[in-house]
Amino acid sequence: MKIGVLTGGGDCPGLNAVIRAVVRKGIFHYNDQFVGFLEGWRGVMENMVRDLDLEAVSGILPRGGTILRSSRTNPAKKPNGIERCLENLHSNGIEALIVLGGDDTQSVSQELFTRGVKVIGVPKTIDNDLSGTDFCFGFDTAVNIATEAIDRVHTTAEAHNRVIVVEVMGRDSGWIAIYSGIAGGADVILIPERPFDVDEVAASLKRRHARGRFFSVVVVAEGATLASSSDQKGGAQLTSESTKDEFGHVRLGGIGNMLAHEIEHRTGFETRAVVLGHIQRGGSPTAFDRVLATRYGIGAIDLVHQGAFGNMVVLRGNHISSIPIVEAISQTSFVSQELIDVALSLHDRG
Ligand code: F6P
Repeated sequence: MKIGVLTGGGDCPGLNAVIRAVVRKGIFHYNDQFVGFLEGWRGVMENMVRDLDLEAVSGILPRGGTILRSSRTNPAKKPNGIERCLENLHSNGIEALIVLGGDDTQSVSQELFTRGVKVIGVPKTIDNDLSGTDFCFGFDTAVNIATEAIDRVHTTAEAHNRVIVVEVMGRDSGWIAIYSGIAGGADVILIPERPFDVDEVAASLKRRHARGRFFSVVVVAEGATLASSSDQKGGAQLTSESTKDEFGHVRLGGIGNMLAHEIEHRTGFETRAVVLGHIQRGGSPTAFDRVLATRYGIGAIDLVHQGAFGNMVVLRGNHISSIPIVEAISQTSFVSQELIDVALSLHDRG
């Protein structure tokens, strides 16, 4: 078969490992041919292609980023965008399309599927917020990077009797924050799933310092929000830019600095903020993500040959299976109450 492959949305470690697995199993086991579309949906819309053969995927397993590059282009927002995609898929003789992406990218997959394109999705995002799968590849790497950063700020915070606030990514979900916060032993973990009160954060840090600890580490997810109270206006996420991308998202950021300022003001403890940003998305995938990405790639090419189009590969328990793309994009996956309770159990709540 002649199969198209693309990577859309924010990149994440493991994309190349998926591409490699798809191409190797496709060529060795099914005698497939591959076409790589460059820069996500932009490449399909504007017919930007490259060959994807064994040579192209050689040596890419440990490499971060994506050899196909990526973008947040949304063809549904461009004049005749969807029609141009359909035309180019047809003119390249594409019989099936494997799409590596998060909810935004997969919403376009779903639209094309309803127009007759034989699509298979692969769940990609460091945010881990796609429903229907236990883990997206890239998440484990981001968590490990954030955990290492938390370990590092611990020693400098301790040396200087400081509070350090670490802002991590994750959009509307707190997966990266809660995993890295638990793994790194953070003293306070703030996630979008539980709006917080700055006075309570300050009080908990004061209690800790009263117990003879002179430093603290706070992990805050970029999408965390203040709870509404009599002296605090809650609800809105902080943004670093007001313009929206083509899928309607604003760029989040700023909560770490705001919180550091408020903590210092309320406690008198010297406080600093560290924003990890895109460091969490860069570099080599962890072994876990390399294996997961490889399993997803194998699962995706097998789904193509089973004719199970309109589905996305998922991990349930420790098994690879699949669910309809439409189900995966219908809701955001949030941190479970069980995990929140684990984090809360470790802290003195006054
Ligand atoms: O969705 C992945 C993600 O890294 C989010 O955690 C973050 O909010 C966003 O992408 C950043 O996007 P960009 O790369 O466009 O700045």
